[in-house]
Amino acid sequence: MIKHQQQGLLPVAAYTSQEWFNWEMKALWGRNWHFAGMVSDLANAGDYTTVQVGAYPIFVVRGHDHRLRAFHNICRHRGTQLLRAKGRSEKNIVCPYHNWTYSLNGALRQIPEEKTQFAGQDIDKNELCLFNASVDTWREMIFVHPDPDAPSLMAYLGDVPNHVGPHQVDKLVEFEENYYEKDVKANWKILVENAIDGYHLEHLHPDTLNMYDHKKQVNQYAGKHWVFWEPLADWYKADLDNLAPYGIIDHIPEEKLGGYLYHLFPSVLITETEGSWSTLQFIPLAPDRTLIQVRTRVMPMTTSEYMSRQTKNWVAWGRRLTNQPVRNDGTDDNMATEDDPLYSGDFILEDVFACEQQQKAMLSPMYATGPAARDEESIYHFHRAILQDCPLEEWHARQAR
Ligand code: FES
Ligand SMILES: [Fe+2]
Repeated sequence: MIKHQQQGLLPVAAYTSQEWFNWEMKALWGRNWHFAGMVSDLANAGDYTTVQVGAYPIFVVRGHDHRLRAFHNICRHRGTQLLRAKGRSEKNIVCPYHNWTYSLNGALRQIPEEKTQFAGQDIDKNELCLFNASVDTWREMIFVHPDPDAPSLMAYLGDVPNHVGPHQVDKLVEFEENYYEKDVKANWKILVENAIDGYHLEHLHPDTLNMYDHKKQVNQYAGKHWVFWEPLADWYKADLDNLAPYGIIDHIPEEKLGGYLYHLFPSVLITETEGSWSTLQFIPLAPDRTLIQVRTRVMPMTTSEYMSRQTKNWVAWGRRLTNQPVRNDGTDDNMATEDDPLYSGDFILEDVFACEQQQKAMLSPMYATGPAARDEESIYHFHRAILQDCPLEEWHARQAR
């Protein structure tokens, strides 16, 4: 008999089944707002960016009136994706297949050889505009929703804005050198659960995230979202000028220093620290594969200063790592090899390692979860939010068909 409450409410199929994945990509991803990049990505008229929102390819473009608009990235002729990646399309959007041409506000402008190829069809171009999606911005971030009539972004965020750090995102700068992405062999929900799990911080990251005092962490919820704060560790705070890798953000009052994290359901995590501001986006690729994209902003500085700070940071933290005598798993630091993620000095690699190991174990018929810790309550909250869009009754009914 099981005495404890098991971790989580989702079945294993939610992490391993292609059918669950396909269902989630429409039902869950079709009903929520999603991070699509930074406002600064689309500074000029014609600038566009594309984003895969579950089953929905979407693009955002800045119009000549300077407004942002979002459309489904689907040509109204045969459905080909119109735009790829990021770029600028100053006048029109032209489909690469048969050159149907749309204006930046989504109107169909021109069909090549219309009179001869479509003779007698009486085509009304007004009925063949691009399908609208919703777009809005908050805190220099762009968000999209596949539904053109979605509830507003601010309604979706609810109480989150009351919990964020004092960071002025527009005053911080991003260096291309700092962009990070990694293709991870784990379901996107395992990565989210790892990101919102306050229990593992002290145990998986004893050397890499020990600049925060995890014992004083504060976990809270705002609608479907999770908000978190923890103070700096005393030893780190005492030598902050020296240890903060990219300098301290100059507009954070001392009493507000700390690590602010918030998970915006379903799949983006914002981290705001004493020296940086980052977005971590988890993009599902398959039931057992996810792309992590990380973008970071810091105080303005020259590229060469940034690079030299980066080097100094690695040296300083590398030295701290080699000073750690024993990890709490009983292994000796001296036995560490360079390619061991647990000794990489990089907390993201430590997280990726743990997540991939968990995903592998899920294929075993013996897989089961044990009792949930206090600081893992956030995982239940996340599961309850998923079950609103993907109810288990519907899943069982699908299986019975
Ligand atoms: S599919 Fe776009 S023009 Fe034919
Ligand atoms: Fe972690």
